[in-house]
Amino acid sequence: MATFPTKRLRRLRYNPTVRDMVRETALSKNDLIYPLFVVHGKGIKNEIKSMPGVYQMSLEILVNECVELEKLGIPAVILFGIPEHKDEVGSEAYDPDGIIQQAVRAIKKVTKKLVVITDVCLCEYTSHGHCGVLDGERILNDETVDLLVKEAVSHAKAGADIIAPSDMMDGRIGAIRKALDQNGFTEIPVMSYAVKYASGFYGPFRDAAESTPAFGDRRSHQMDVANGNEAIREAESDIEEGADIIMVKPAGAYLDIIWRVKEKFGMPTAAYQVSGEYAMIKAAGRNNWIDEERVMIESLTAIKRAGADMILTYFAKDVAKYLDKSK
Ligand code: PBG
Repeated sequence: MATFPTKRLRRLRYNPTVRDMVRETALSKNDLIYPLFVVHGKGIKNEIKSMPGVYQMSLEILVNECVELEKLGIPAVILFGIPEHKDEVGSEAYDPDGIIQQAVRAIKKVTKKLVVITDVCLCEYTSHGHCGVLDGERILNDETVDLLVKEAVSHAKAGADIIAPSDMMDGRIGAIRKALDQNGFTEIPVMSYAVKYASGFYGPFRDAAESTPAFGDRRSHQMDVANGNEAIREAESDIEEGADIIMVKPAGAYLDIIWRVKEKFGMPTAAYQVSGEYAMIKAAGRNNWIDEERVMIESLTAIKRAGADMILTYFAKDVAKYLDKSK
């Protein structure tokens, strides 16, 4: 093995064109999935305080946004709904005329190839803000799965292209897969939030989706941040149950997990750069404590380098514009 002075790793770093030539990881628009928040009403575009540049939008504004996203070359969006009424069992989640079902139909009317992914969970729809049906303060697993199945099928009926369960109940991927198949949706993929940690990084999202739990937390179903082997077991069971795409969430603090899951299973792997990751970069950028654009690209490049094939990120639009500019 050659050593210094014959081996000089800096040789490939002097010339910027050579640096471009040897670069191992490049972000592409095809990596991007843009999260959107839809609310009832008209003319609503509410900026989320803890997430500058991210809005709750009413239908007609959302639809225009989707047309613009398609023009920008962003391949996919993931939708989160804020219902009109919340109740104990999250009824609007599986109402054929719920906000998400309406949004999917409206987007599908005006876009040609934008992939519409829907988040399947109950937390936005329940009066208590928990991800499932409660017995006292306990979230009931199997009873919740029954409702998630109804929600997933109703999203597919509305025209969703991919179903993304984010609830972390046991067995929901198998149950959803079976129900989709029975309803004729054998070709609709399931993107499983397979490895989802009980993370403090979701704080700003709960402002956006109005889904903060009324008491307690999500540690009885989301994963302990300290665990890595368990991530493999979670991913493995979702794959066995029929998941087509496996997600790790959050992304930035869990690059080791993205890497392990990708290495172990070689599945199409998604990573979610969540609200808190976005908020931190935005806040520091606004204070001129960091260079926001540079850190945006660095953080996403690192997530891709770790093994993510696609990234859910609130920066998707900014990245698409950046890629156009730097062509
Ligand atoms: C649950 C869901 C959450 C996020 C995506 N889907 C919130 C939670 O688990 O509390 C968080 C995404 C983010 O922080 O950007 N429906």
